[in-house]
Amino acid sequence: MRKLVVLFALLGGTALAADGAAIFKAKGCASCHQPTADTVGPSLKKIAQAYVGKEDQLVKFLKGQAKPIVDPAKAAIMMPQLTLIKNLSDEEFQALANYIMSFK
Ligand code: HEC
Repeated sequence: MRKLVVLFALLGGTALAADGAAIFKAKGCASCHQPTADTVGPSLKKIAQAYVGKEDQLVKFLKGQAKPIVDPAKAAIMMPQLTLIKNLSDEEFQALANYIMSFK
């Protein structure tokens, strides 16, 4: 019985955890951000490297509460994209930031 409870706790945890990669794809972010090559937007690797040690600031940027630091000259292309994710939960914002940081 105890094993079953543990199993359900594990399954429940996985099902509830926000999936940053899925959000990134579903919101169309991947059309401008490739893993390692700069295209319309900077690569995920370049973004992650700019935010090493500043992960909190990345979450704030995604929430529209912090200024861009990677390529501010092109921010006019990026800022409107933030409206697509403005209704995410705190957990989902964190998962999205974790996904981006996984490319550093
Ligand atoms: C139409 C193309 C386009 C789409 C779609 C797009 N981006 Fe961007 N993104 C850019 C460009 C261009 C920049 C560079 C400007 C900048 O640094 O703000 C950028 C920069 C960024 C940065 C770095 C911000 C910084 O500090 O400079 C993050 C993080 C980011 N995008 C996340 C996302 C996420 C998450 C999505 C999906 C909701 C997304 N982008 C969708 C073009 C796009």
